[in-house]
Amino acid sequence: MEYKLLTPGPLTTTKSVKQAMMVDHCTWDQEYKTITQDIRQKLLTLAGVTDTEYTTILMQGSGSFGVESVLSSVIGEEDHVLICVNGAYGLRIVSMSERHNLTYTVYEVAEDEIPQAEAITEILKNDSSITAIAMVHSETTSGILNELEDIAQLAKENGLLFIVDAMSSFGGIPIDVSGLSIDFLISSSNKCIQGVPGFSFILAKRDQLEKRRYARTVSLDLYDQYETMEKDGKWRFTSPTHTVLAFQQALKELDEEGGIYQRYMRYLTNNRLLRQKMEELGYHPFIKQYQGPFITSFLFPKQASFDFDNFYQHLKENGFVIYPGKISTADCFRIGNIGDIYPEDIHRLVKVIENYAEVAYVS
Ligand SMILES: Cc1ncc(COP(=O)(O)O)c(C=O)c1O
Repeated sequence: MEYKLLTPGPLTTTKSVKQAMMVDHCTWDQEYKTITQDIRQKLLTLAGVTDTEYTTILMQGSGSFGVESVLSSVIGEEDHVLICVNGAYGLRIVSMSERHNLTYTVYEVAEDEIPQAEAITEILKNDSSITAIAMVHSETTSGILNELEDIAQLAKENGLLFIVDAMSSFGGIPIDVSGLSIDFLISSSNKCIQGVPGFSFILAKRDQLEKRRYARTVSLDLYDQYETMEKDGKWRFTSPTHTVLAFQQALKELDEEGGIYQRYMRYLTNNRLLRQKMEELGYHPFIKQYQGPFITSFLFPKQASFDFDNFYQHLKENGFVIYPGKISTADCFRIGNIGDIYPEDIHRLVKVIENYAEVAYVS
């Protein structure tokens, strides 16, 4: 059965992106290596950064592999990372840091709040050993969009390494990577670029990458991966060839759409429409302030008879798949509006939800 994924990735991709995978490519082939190099270059162009200041490393695996690759490769024994947390993906950075025995401090705020530069200033004042800040941009747990600017400024002023998990935001909203002086930014193939799952990518400041060679694993060694890829586009180990071809096509389609700003406008339109229509049906968002344009957490409706599994099945039978909630303190479900999704899809979804209410809440 065909349905649209209203999830934050894997998400609904175009037919042409899926079609691009109908080729079996050899990883040693020069043509394939050139595709890898083109993708690396294209990501730099999208980020608006130069090849002299930044480089791109593609890393096999899902987004978490990219985050773990950075943390386990660039944080040295002398480092102390301040991790900003307001959801599950911030907490995942904490778990990874714990597992790799990194020195870290957690600055946690509630899931419907964003990390504040003033609080970080205080933390830095009281602890001069902190050398790095790690944070999530779009916290997909709730859909909140954390502000990067003031925290980036603090990192810059204090000479701290700045690591940003931009998994569900890069490609779907303009990010001034160089202006914010982000040292390592991580995202993945199956989010706002609208490719399919299979690899993550890291935009890295060359000077930091060159001097920070602390890899604790072989397969996630960021520098090694960079060094090999930099020569001629060869991946160190088996690369996800079909995913790479799909990603190349997805990048082309992002250009055809008009680039990141145009895509951001589409996502924003989808998201505003979704929230407005859902509100009219009596579904309220969990995030009141700083709602991002990618995914929205809706509180379970008041009706005692609301049953998520039943709701989910109804939506699926009518052509849409959504996500369960991930908020630790409230019962929610999540609806993503990224991918090959347009306002007409949102209108159709809202109709399906409206019909559900007519059947489900009559007891
Ligand atoms: C902000 C953020 N970080 C990390 C991840 C982990 O990515 P993956 O599930 O691809 O490993 C996700 C996944 O949705 C995410 O949204």
